[in-house]
Formats: sequence, structure tokens, C-alpha cells
Amino acid sequence: MKNIAIFASGSGSNFEAIVNAAEKGEIPAKISLLVCDRPEAYVIIRARTHGVPVFAFSPKDYAGKEAYEAEILERLRASDIHLIALAGYMRMVGETLLEAYPNRIVNIHPSLLPAFPGKDAIARAYQSGAKQTGVTVHYVDAGMDTGPVIAQRDVKVLEEDTEESLEERIHQTEHLLYIQTLKSLLEQGEESSQS
Ligand code: GRF
Repeated sequence: MKNIAIFASGSGSNFEAIVNAAEKGEIPAKISLLVCDRPEAYVIIRARTHGVPVFAFSPKDYAGKEAYEAEILERLRASDIHLIALAGYMRMVGETLLEAYPNRIVNIHPSLLPAFPGKDAIARAYQSGAKQTGVTVHYVDAGMDTGPVIAQRDVKVLEEDTEESLEERIHQTEHLLYIQTLKSLLEQGEESSQS
């Protein structure tokens, strides 16, 4: 069973969906670590409820990204982590982790990239009047939501949608797409074959 670490900063609904899937045997992996850069984030409570070990830290306690990523890397190695899944982790991943985990860091983003990268993607898509948006799972590189796309799923914007109802459907789609994508990456051993 391969070990996955999830990085998150907020509520953690994607974290919860992935942990539930792993517990039910729907993905061939164990969620062995939560890395969280906000010690007050709700995702930490979710992790404790599921017995997932947590490394929570405050970036301001470190000299910089290189210093806190060096500590994260130690924890990842101690837990024999094979794949990192970002799920609402609100920081750019730095060189330390990118070099240690080439093609083994993936992210989920709530738009059809390359449309609407960065923050508030759902609100910006809704306010643009687009008839369709969606969800993307991609490899992480040094840019902001710029790495190679692994999987995408459309979500239609309905006439009657509010920003909240659209957000709700996007989150449901995220949970399904992230689980399916992690499952196929792990089964095909493709998380490290992308060049
Ligand atoms: C998701 O919309 C994800 O795509 C984005 O951050 C949000 C995290 O939501 N990167 P949650 O914390 O998993 O509920």
C-alpha cells in the first residue's frame, strides 16, 4: 500500500473525501500524513477524527519557505510518502519539495485550467458569465496552477445557479474526480512516468 500525504490549509472537504475513499479500499493507498500551514484549520479536526497523523506549522515560525519545506520533507520521508496530493493548500510549492518529489505532487483546482488559475476561481468563472466551468487535476510545477493537466471534468453553469449552488456542484465534482484520478495514477504507476 502506497503512502499519500495530503497538504491542505482550510476546510478539507477534499481531504475527507479522499480519506473516506482510502478507508473503504476505493483507492489503493493509505493517507499517512496531513500537512497543514494553518494550525487553526478545520481540516486538522477531520484528520484527528480519522486518525491521520498531522504536521501543522506556522510559516512565520521559520526563516522562509526553504526552512519549513526542509522540515516537511523530513516528515514525508519519515512516513515513506510516495505521492503528495494538494487539496486547498494555499501556498506555492518550492524547489525543495518539487525536486524531492518530481512528478509526484498533484493538485486539484476548481476551474477548467488554463482558465481562471489562482484564487477565487469559482467566483471569477461565475461572474464572467461563462456557461461552463469545471475542475482540473494537474501535476504541480513552480508556477501558479500551470503544471501538466492529468484530468478535467466539466460543470455546467445553470441559468438558476447562484455562486453558492455552483460552488456546491464544483466541490462534489472535485471529490469524485480527485478520487478517480488518484486511483488511476496509483494503479497505473503513472504518477512518476510523466515527463
Ligand atoms: C477546492 O476548491 C480546491 O479545488 C481548491 O481549494 C478548495 C479546497 O476545498 N484548491 P476543501 O478545503 O477541500 O473543502
